[in-house]
Amino acid sequence: MPYLEAIWANKILTNGGPFHQQLEKALCEYLGVQHLALFSNGTLGLVTALQALRITGEVITTPYSFVATAHSLLWNGIKPVFADVHPDTLNLDPARIEAAITPHTTAIMPVHCYGHPCDVQAIQKIADNYNLKVIYDAAHAFGVQDAGGSVLRHGDLSVLSFHATKVFNTFEGGAIICPDAKTKQRIDHLKNFGFVDETTVVAPGINGKMSEINAAFGMLQLQYVGDALAKRQAIDTAYRAALHNVPGIRCVQDAGQQVSNYSYFPIMVEPDYPLSRDALYQKLKDNHIFARRYFYPLITDFPMYRGMPSASRENLPEATAAAQKVLCLPIYPALTLEQQDQIVAVIREAAV
Ligand SMILES: Cc1ncc(COP(=O)(O)O)c(C=O)c1O
Repeated sequence: MPYLEAIWANKILTNGGPFHQQLEKALCEYLGVQHLALFSNGTLGLVTALQALRITGEVITTPYSFVATAHSLLWNGIKPVFADVHPDTLNLDPARIEAAITPHTTAIMPVHCYGHPCDVQAIQKIADNYNLKVIYDAAHAFGVQDAGGSVLRHGDLSVLSFHATKVFNTFEGGAIICPDAKTKQRIDHLKNFGFVDETTVVAPGINGKMSEINAAFGMLQLQYVGDALAKRQAIDTAYRAALHNVPGIRCVQDAGQQVSNYSYFPIMVEPDYPLSRDALYQKLKDNHIFARRYFYPLITDFPMYRGMPSASRENLPEATAAAQKVLCLPIYPALTLEQQDQIVAVIREAAV
């Protein structure tokens, strides 16, 4: 209420108001990054990131993601070229990226899937060799760190989502992390219709601004994010302990990051589990437990992508297999131990 009262009192509702400025600064500090531009959602962040770097032609990306990753390319008139993922991390496999490069390739758009970092070194090496830009869809990677610090420092730009389902949320929201003040300035122009001042428009920008009310919720959430992450970590640990000896259930391992955000708890329902993935999904649902088949269907199975040569299942065997097996179990700070026991009991029941 005090935050809302502050908005009513100063009568600034949007257009880079005080909460917007505070949140950009606070997030830079929290995440350990230099420059960050808030957005009204992550998808507009992705669309604008591609505009900011003037990406055209073909961009290599993953089919194993939320559909917004590839949609951001189509919204820019860019052709997505899909490459397969690595079976362990479910992130783009660098070897497959290199094989997908053509003379039209201008960039790579990898996803830190489930907040598990991509092979950033290998990806940067390919980008350097072929003079490509790298835009990370880091929608899942809030707060994740590798040995050198925030994973958001890698590539040319990284894009976060602050959607209601994310570890840190502003109800709807997102951000672009950029390396220098000049790039941030261009992004800030692009997210405000291209306006530089009252009478100057320098680019065909969009309206991607975060409102004061969303930024205020961000400032509030930031106070609780440490506690939320600690609770998620405890849930993750308990799931791993309870499920490690259930035949046919494999918990997806992290990618060796230093600090995780425990944003998802994906399991693979393998052939030696007595039920199919979809049967387990339904059984959980019948018990009022709502797991998610995340990511299924693959992006490449949707009508606007499936006709593309790179979308064929033969090109994407690992992503295709993962989409058939994956189930993300409930994980959120308020999940109680009793509730977690119930979830595990339903999964175990079928296995005995
Ligand atoms: C991998 C990925 N990319 C992009 C998005 C889009 O973000 P938003 O919902 O904030 O537009 C999401 C989630 O919503 C996502 O999971």
